[in-house]
Amino acid sequence: MEKLSILPQRVRAAPPGDTQRTSLARLSIILCPLPVKILPLASAAATPLPDPPTIDPMAADMQQVDRVIRQRLSSQVALINQISSYIVGAGGKRIRPRLVLLFAQALGFDGPEAHELAATVEFIHTATLLHDDVVDESSLRRGRATSNAMFGNAASVLVGDFLYSRAFQMMVSVQRPRVLEVLADATNVIAEGEVLQLMNMHDPDLSVDEYLRVIRFKTAKLFEASARLGAVLADADAAQELACATYGRALGTAFQLVDDLLDYEGSSDELGKNVGDDLREGKPTLPLLVAMQRATNEEKALIRKAIEAGEVERLPDVIAIVRRTGALDATRQAAEAEASLARDSIATLPPSNARAALLELSVRAVHRSA
Ligand code: IPE
Ligand code: IPE
Ligand code: MG
Ligand code: MG
Repeated sequence: MEKLSILPQRVRAAPPGDTQRTSLARLSIILCPLPVKILPLASAAATPLPDPPTIDPMAADMQQVDRVIRQRLSSQVALINQISSYIVGAGGKRIRPRLVLLFAQALGFDGPEAHELAATVEFIHTATLLHDDVVDESSLRRGRATSNAMFGNAASVLVGDFLYSRAFQMMVSVQRPRVLEVLADATNVIAEGEVLQLMNMHDPDLSVDEYLRVIRFKTAKLFEASARLGAVLADADAAQELACATYGRALGTAFQLVDDLLDYEGSSDELGKNVGDDLREGKPTLPLLVAMQRATNEEKALIRKAIEAGEVERLPDVIAIVRRTGALDATRQAAEAEASLARDSIATLPPSNARAALLELSVRAVHRSA
């Protein structure tokens, strides 16, 4: 069996019942130099993938979510309306609201609360983007100048806070304590992830496990919460909610792995964001961590220095090294394995169009350019 990569990362035993560590260890297995016995990609064959739909069966629901988003954005303060409609009006893929709706449907729930919570998770996501672009000093988002570039850091942070707190008003309106529990937990963990990432900046010695912890927190947690909300609305039992959560966490991890990959091999035009931002910020993401394990001493020194100093001018050299060492392929394989785990985790849900759409979404999350 093929060894997927040559990281000297050894799998550490996870404490019993610690699903997060278990799952991190699982991904480390994919990236470790040991002969890989259980290749998660192999299990993808167990769940046949549907043909992509020609029309979006969710279109009407997503339009309803859009209406809720626009209604709930409104504020008495003009600058809030201006900035929030600026970022929301630029679009976005709306993956997280889609997860809420698809899981609710897959488990038999149909009601306006699903649209309300779908809009709620999109607000939380948008708030994190406003804050993230300030922290990352990014200038392009969704094909437009970022809100911080247009309106300044202070206004962006404050409108991000408005969106967070509006999201809390919306989740309270659904009147289900479990919804509050899921989203309060998620927003807290996302904030921890962003702070952890800040602490890891410019650190070329970051371990793969530490990197994975950050992406589980900052990105996968909201995917997980979105999936859970569908289950909560449908009054699903604990096992079903866990299956949904596992899908969300795995999909979110795959999604961020691909985001980190596209920062090296994507196109700014398609992504609507500047490629190379991660290197400029000195972010030690998986493509760089894998490349350093496989590079010559000279190449390793170049990457280390680029991370330490945030040398975006070395981007062409760094891209050449991540390509030559197969680090981009290894990152994509890690994402594939997570997407496969996502598919496996919903095998126990009853077959439905919504479940088929979730399988399809797991494929598109990895094979995307935007
Ligand atoms: C961007 O998320 C932030 C990451 C987690 C990588 P999306 O790629 O879902 O952003 P939009 O909403 O489509 O712009
Ligand atoms: C995702 O990380 C940020 C959040 C989850 C808030 P990135 O910093 O990689 O996201 P982009 O690339 O700016 O969208
Ligand atoms: Mg960013
Ligand atoms: Mg990114």
